[in-house]
Amino acid sequence: MKVITIIGARPQFIKAAPVSRELRKKAEEIIVHTGQHYDKNMSDIFFEELNIPKPDYHLNVGSGSHGKQTGEMLIHIEEVLLKEEPNYVLVYGDTNSTLAGALAAAKLHIPVIHIEAGLRSFNKKMPEEVNRIMTDHVSDMLFCPTDTAINNLQNENLTHNVFNVGDVMYDAVLYNQKLAADSRILENHGLESKGYHLITLHRAENTDYPEKMKNIIEAFKQIDKTLVWPIHPRTKHKLEGYGIDLNDVPNLKVIEPVGYLDMLRLESEAEKILTDSGGVQKEAYFLKIPCVTLREETEWVETVSYKGNVLVGSDTDKILAAVNSEYTSNYENAFGDGQSARYIAERISQ
Ligand code: UD1
Ligand code: UDP
Repeated sequence: MKVITIIGARPQFIKAAPVSRELRKKAEEIIVHTGQHYDKNMSDIFFEELNIPKPDYHLNVGSGSHGKQTGEMLIHIEEVLLKEEPNYVLVYGDTNSTLAGALAAAKLHIPVIHIEAGLRSFNKKMPEEVNRIMTDHVSDMLFCPTDTAINNLQNENLTHNVFNVGDVMYDAVLYNQKLAADSRILENHGLESKGYHLITLHRAENTDYPEKMKNIIEAFKQIDKTLVWPIHPRTKHKLEGYGIDLNDVPNLKVIEPVGYLDMLRLESEAEKILTDSGGVQKEAYFLKIPCVTLREETEWVETVSYKGNVLVGSDTDKILAAVNSEYTSNYENAFGDGQSARYIAERISQ
């Protein structure tokens, strides 16, 4: 059996690592990297440290508007699929690489496997929401991480070949936690355990709006604790464009995006995590670190209902109130048992 895996953005490399390891025990896998992310710290570093097999095809599509980026991926993915004639095309999550892979395959009548299916924010202004809905509706096998995701699909009449297998990002955390203990990222930046809050921020729904970014940065200015921010290149470019100078934030340490093992250590030793990332919200929950989510809604509703995460949007006062309040999750594991990748590989190869 031949499976073509399409990946292109940072979180997809991290998700692919455990799945690829299991899938290769059962099937031939060919990896296509769309090139959506291309900086060393957004791409190559993950292949190296997580031992993800080198991509068989690199499409080098790079950055662009949604139409241009997705369209170019579609053209080149179709060429690969016609040449390789796989049994399945496997896609992850909700990026433009996900949509392009799913659409190219569906039009060629190649069955699509979607990992992290069924997530919904119910906000169609998010590019991710459009990508997820479209991908789920052309997929033939839908692997959901939670019961909520299963229910979301049921509400859209998607019930065939839908499985709750848990979350592959939980597999990744469990597998890499020990390795992350060897990271020297705290020492290299003069940080102490619990002596800082960790920030990540990159979603279009924040970074595309200068007012929102001003309000968020204003909150950062008023936080009386070291803030560590591995900055996403999108956010860096946008802030430069808005004329917002991060040197004006007194306690802030801006660093380059870091590898996954450094990130896991930074997360584990933070007092709180402030983020608009989907993956980072979940990791905060897995690691039992209180999370402040800089969004109005989340797909990862369990992290909020089990009180490990609060939603504050871009409101300066709400951000400060959440950062200054005490809360700990009454942790319940809603994300599987850390064996998701194995369940997925077994089901695909049946
Ligand atoms: C994409 C996904 C988003 C996901 C995120 C993970 C879509 C629509 N969005 O957002 O869902 O949460 O990846 O990180 O697919 N850039 C670089 N170097 C890189 C990559 C990007 O400089 O290696 C800059 C470019 O200026 C680019 C911008 O970041 O225009 C945005 O990159 P893009 O891949 O379009 O979207 P992300 O914001 O990364
Ligand atoms: N991540 C990382 N280095 C960083 C920032 C994030 O390794 O500097 C990891 C993070 O631990 C998580 C994943 O990237 O596993 C999340 O990706 P991102 O926030 O880019 O996208 P999202 O999950 O929001 O789609």
